[in-house]
Amino acid sequence: MKIAPFEIEQYFDQYEFTTPHLLCASDCETMSTADLLAMADMSLADLGRLRLGYTESQGSLDLRTAVSRLHKSVQPNHVVILTSPEEGIYLAMRTLLNPGDHAIVLTPAYNSLLAVAQHITPNVSQWEIKPTATGWEIDINAFERLVKPETKLIIVNFPHNPTGFLPTPEQQQAIIDIAQRHDTWLFSDEMYRGLELHGTSTLPSAADLYHRAIVLAGLSKTHGLPGLRSGWLIIQDPDIRAQLQNWKHYTSICPPAPSEFLALAALKVHEQLIGRNRRLIEHNLHIATPFFERWAQLFEWRPPQAGSVALVGLTLPSAADYCHKLAEKAGVLLLPSSYLGYDDQHVRMGFGRADFADNLAVLEKYLQAVTT
Ligand SMILES: Cc1ncc(COP(=O)(O)O)c(C=O)c1O
Repeated sequence: MKIAPFEIEQYFDQYEFTTPHLLCASDCETMSTADLLAMADMSLADLGRLRLGYTESQGSLDLRTAVSRLHKSVQPNHVVILTSPEEGIYLAMRTLLNPGDHAIVLTPAYNSLLAVAQHITPNVSQWEIKPTATGWEIDINAFERLVKPETKLIIVNFPHNPTGFLPTPEQQQAIIDIAQRHDTWLFSDEMYRGLELHGTSTLPSAADLYHRAIVLAGLSKTHGLPGLRSGWLIIQDPDIRAQLQNWKHYTSICPPAPSEFLALAALKVHEQLIGRNRRLIEHNLHIATPFFERWAQLFEWRPPQAGSVALVGLTLPSAADYCHKLAEKAGVLLLPSSYLGYDDQHVRMGFGRADFADNLAVLEKYLQAVTT
């Protein structure tokens, strides 16, 4: 059976490396290998000595230990190191879902969180985040009404891509209470965790709150290291972990040695990397706010509470048409919401890159040129 087109990634395939002014990237500013090693007080010579044999399938004990230390109640043997965060979505859905099972997915969602579940079972409900005048909200009662006797899995992503929504700890607990009451698994995509903005506390990881949570995290977004393709799952249940590791033998077998080495370096300086990117996002949001005030007739601005992206309303008939035109005519890339399975009246913008102000200035110059 064919799977749905991965629309976001197809769009990035078309434009990411040919459009000069990216304004919709979800990852934060990256760095060189040499700079990362220097920050972690390690040398390039250490990397040069690394042997390129097969690695442990579950991931090296050192890296699993470093991941477990980011949590309160996670043991190194609960951690499965992946060959990309994306792989974790595929493996977890394959492991947890069978045809006929019911899943609930918070939407709009990063495509694979919905599409892989739908590929396995037609029985998938969408729990939609709704816009308010100034932000986004979730309705916990609406969520509980979606739960059925055959509900096996609930899929959430906080901080949320693409809206920048962050639940309160009470809302997070309410979701977990419902999962617990109905005895379902909870897939918690925490790829943007640590990017809570303006002094908001980091939301607890679901792995520390619920034994049936499967948590996905990694170094692509918050740490700005997507080229490492480093990610991991936290799975406390030994049987589910073993089943998932069996699926993994069919995808990547074991993580790449250089990626594990550099991931360990990154986790040594975890707080520094996150702090640097959080400050960059806050700085860029400072520049974005007056821009959206100046262009209020074109954009509806709902500032993100957390994460590196926001979903911005567009007062035009088709965001997709507009984004293609913008890429071709101005060399500026925005992501239309229809590629996220949402309406055609929003665009995703990203705030984690160092060239944000320059790229926004290019967009503004284009807007001025076409409106005068
Ligand atoms: C919510 C979410 N989960 C998972 C991923 C996959 O991460 P990666 O591309 O590093 O594999 C992404 C990437 O955009 C994402 O936004």
